[in-house]
Amino acid sequence: MFDAKKIKKLGFSNTAIFSSVDSTNDFLSEMTTSGKESIIAVSQMQTKGRGRFAREWVSLKGGLYFSFTEKHENIVYPLQLFPIACAIGVYRYLESLRIPLLRYKWPNDILVKNRKISGILCEFSESVIIAGIGVNINTEAFPEEISDFAVSVYSIKRREYSLTDALVEIVNNIRNVKNSAEITKFMNESGMIGKRIMFSSNGRIIEGTVDSFKENGEIVINSNSILESFIAGDATFVRERE
Ligand code: BTN
Repeated sequence: MFDAKKIKKLGFSNTAIFSSVDSTNDFLSEMTTSGKESIIAVSQMQTKGRGRFAREWVSLKGGLYFSFTEKHENIVYPLQLFPIACAIGVYRYLESLRIPLLRYKWPNDILVKNRKISGILCEFSESVIIAGIGVNINTEAFPEEISDFAVSVYSIKRREYSLTDALVEIVNNIRNVKNSAEITKFMNESGMIGKRIMFSSNGRIIEGTVDSFKENGEIVINSNSILESFIAGDATFVRERE
């Protein structure tokens, strides 16, 4: 199970630890609506784990599933960069485990050889952001439908890692992201620039190469020599599947 003492040291006013819950994001959403604005929730499993674009996030035992609140006023860079700061936090944790072929995919996926090892779902309310983070850490096997697209730390390292330590390190890494220059630098050095992607945004799909990232978090795509910037969307690398 989780080490409550270590999690409490992160300083949230409320800590919730579950063996199973529908979704830690949904739980936090109910809590913030009823006035609790400093809370972290973690669960061994989720029965209705959610991803971006209303996708399901398969949440089997062994993975790390947690959500925490961050007050808008505590974020020292533009709010729309917070999801990218979360990706930096996860990336730096996985990097510390020396996971090979780690790759960031805008805006906040972390992949290994084009398979997803972590996903992040940030939801904004009036005064807080709910950051929901899923990392496939000790997951031994995935259901067939996603086994070609998902990967876990366990499947790479063949050993288990402490989920509590992972959570604490990720939250601290996110808190250590200092400013928008650091975030832009991370995106620009992530290896995405020059890569060919299929990109969908608001029902539109384009194919192009990643040109750059802007300080406000936008991705700039070069499609047939026309540069277009997007603040939201979903990218898939082209011709790089195993
Ligand atoms: C994505 O890749 O689409 C985002 C996945 C986010 C999953 C996490 S797990 C903890 C939190 N609770 C949820 O229901 N979703 C997020």
